[in-house]
Amino acid sequence: MTRIAVLISGGGTNLQSLIDAQTAGMFEDGEIVLVLSSKQKVFAIQRAADNGIPSVIVARKDYHNLEDYDGAMRAELDRYHVDLVVLAGFLSILGPKVLGAYGGRILNIHPALIPSFCGKGFYGLHVHKAALDYGVKVTGATVHFVNEVVDGGKIVLQKAVDVMPDDTPESLQLRVMEDAEHIILPQAVAMYCRGEIRG
Ligand code: GAR
Repeated sequence: MTRIAVLISGGGTNLQSLIDAQTAGMFEDGEIVLVLSSKQKVFAIQRAADNGIPSVIVARKDYHNLEDYDGAMRAELDRYHVDLVVLAGFLSILGPKVLGAYGGRILNIHPALIPSFCGKGFYGLHVHKAALDYGVKVTGATVHFVNEVVDGGKIVLQKAVDVMPDDTPESLQLRVMEDAEHIILPQAVAMYCRGEIRG
């Protein structure tokens, strides 16, 4: 069995796409055993509860330094005997303790075609605003393995999405989520569960 932890910081539409994929049997012996949130009171926690998935909150502000925060996150992942960590809109930083223990077993979804519009500061709506400011006609999403370089790990899947002339950051974000992220993130997790990809 592949025990999956999904790390989130917000609404959790990507988490929902993973829950739906699991319900549809896409993950074979894979199971989401934990939702770990970096924030309190986000809707993703409700989605976990609605589906009987345990959730924990590990918020950076509750720890004196990055080392303690990193250690707390590592302890939760260890406690649930996690095999695969999925960053699904997780907007906090991972430290060396988590990366050291789970390196090669962490997937992230990024809302652009890496290496465009990625790296430090490129998250959420900032990514789509940058794509519109640049004037690209095609953007998309990328699933990649996580290493110590922000958005720098091995690419697993990408899917392109057209930019429309009247797009706003919000309308583009929605199209990238629905037409790319919610498709390729469950696909990548299913590939991992079948042993087809390794970091
Ligand atoms: C998603 O668009 C995800 O790709 C992005 O945050 C959003 C979370 O939405 N992640 C990043 O920007 C990471 N660099 P969700 O909570 O509805 O899944």
